[in-house]
Amino acid sequence: MNRVLILDFGSQFTQLIARRFREKKVYCEILPANADYAEIRSFKPSALILSGGPHSVFDSEAPQADSKILDLGKPILGICYGMQWMAQALGGKVHPADNREYGLMEIRIEQKNSALLSSWAKATMNTWMSHGDEVVELPEGFSPVARSEDGSLAIMEDPKRKLFALQFHPEVTHTDHGIKYFERFLELANVQADWDLGDFAAEKIKEIQAQVGGTDYAICALSGGVDSSVAATLVEKALPGRLDCLYIDSGLQREGESEEVMHNFEDTGLRVALVDAREEFLTALTGKMDPEDKRKTIGRLFIEIFEREAKRIGKQYGTVEPIRWMVQGTLYPDVIESLPPPGRGGFSSTIKSHHNVGGLPERMNLKLIEPLRELFKDEVRSLGYQLGVPEEILGRHPFPGPGLAIRCLGEATKERLDVLRAADKLYIDMLKESGHYDKIWQAGVILLPVSTVGVMGDSRTYENPVALRAVTSDDGMTANWYPFPPDLLGRISTRIINEVKGVNRVVYDVSTKPPATIEWE
Ligand code: XMP
Repeated sequence: MNRVLILDFGSQFTQLIARRFREKKVYCEILPANADYAEIRSFKPSALILSGGPHSVFDSEAPQADSKILDLGKPILGICYGMQWMAQALGGKVHPADNREYGLMEIRIEQKNSALLSSWAKATMNTWMSHGDEVVELPEGFSPVARSEDGSLAIMEDPKRKLFALQFHPEVTHTDHGIKYFERFLELANVQADWDLGDFAAEKIKEIQAQVGGTDYAICALSGGVDSSVAATLVEKALPGRLDCLYIDSGLQREGESEEVMHNFEDTGLRVALVDAREEFLTALTGKMDPEDKRKTIGRLFIEIFEREAKRIGKQYGTVEPIRWMVQGTLYPDVIESLPPPGRGGFSSTIKSHHNVGGLPERMNLKLIEPLRELFKDEVRSLGYQLGVPEEILGRHPFPGPGLAIRCLGEATKERLDVLRAADKLYIDMLKESGHYDKIWQAGVILLPVSTVGVMGDSRTYENPVALRAVTSDDGMTANWYPFPPDLLGRISTRIINEVKGVNRVVYDVSTKPPATIEWE
């Protein structure tokens, strides 16, 4: 299989570069730019990409890659800082530019027979730039291909050595024909599109079998969401009959959710035990008002219950501690996010994964199986379809681990949770009926801890308002509020106020993230 290696100099777009290659069905991974040369070689890259980054090559902390990568004989594409680093490392000259170029910039092609641009490029094209330095002297063997309006070098290439560099960001949608730069680079690099999820499942299954061996058991905390469901399904195929899943009903789930999750898993072959811990959670949350206190209480209790139930299941198998593995649905964006940011501790190549169930594996002395850690969310969904994971699971909005407790502002009592659950059900059902659910990344209702005056029939009411939240997003890191048709908002409001006892006002949250967050607590 062809493999592209992206060396990350700290750009906020590095993940986007990886996405672009995966979309083209080319397998790629990201390593910190200063990864060991041995590690880079052992990855056996078919081609390399040098990402952009926030630094100037003149900064004392400017990230450096091992210049031996330039002698690997592999095709390389440098982007922004990656171009400047490449130019400098090969004996060219970089200077601080007179004018910082930021945003949309037109480039003009000055070399008609460029290898990289071949026949697809136009004489002038828009690009998206963000840089303060520029290459003023090309390294030997390179020729200038394009310049920006003020004459700065925008593209250089050395087709003989298959080294190419762009001063702008082709991975960003604002750059005209951005994907064409990548396609042509892959063509010149002789990298075929051979990344296939079909093979992925079969290979992962073999890998898990080799990793776990023939006797150990594994356990998985199943939330009912996409990631843990697909991860568990894959591991069950690798270790038939040796995986136990725990679904903990905390009483903080949405209306009918536990029944729905258990129903969804009925015919999947997964062994799922439902743990009814509703009373335990409610008791622990009594009197807790502070969001952090609520989160910590829920997290701690979750760990205690999981540990207790895992031990109970382990005992069934007779031998001492037969469960040695824990399955987690860690995704590639979580892995990338865990890379230390440049300038703060540098680019260490130890990659830690995020643990959704914080601390559990260490505490229970469990080793991790993370079968999705190379995949992006949409790839996990495709894999889920291939593995026969029910559609109801794959199309679900994300839902936070602490559940409705963090949408029930103030104390999360049974009564208040029930009000919130009723409003949430109405809202989500109406989103599904109106066809908006699948266009929204995440939606939910928030119960506010204040009372407002209303009038119902001839009587005064003094009840709680709820806020509706619906956002579009790629990954939850940034989000925009969803532009509902006003009449739908109106109908949702009327139904919630009329049908949910205890609510007399509905407001819609029109805040973006940042500066707000998706959840209110
Ligand atoms: P925020 O509120 O930080 O949320 O904008 C971003 C995404 O993360 C989810 N979220 C959580 N998920 N445990 C989780 O598993 C948590 O403690 C948690 N807090 C927020 C949130 O629902 C949104 O999708």
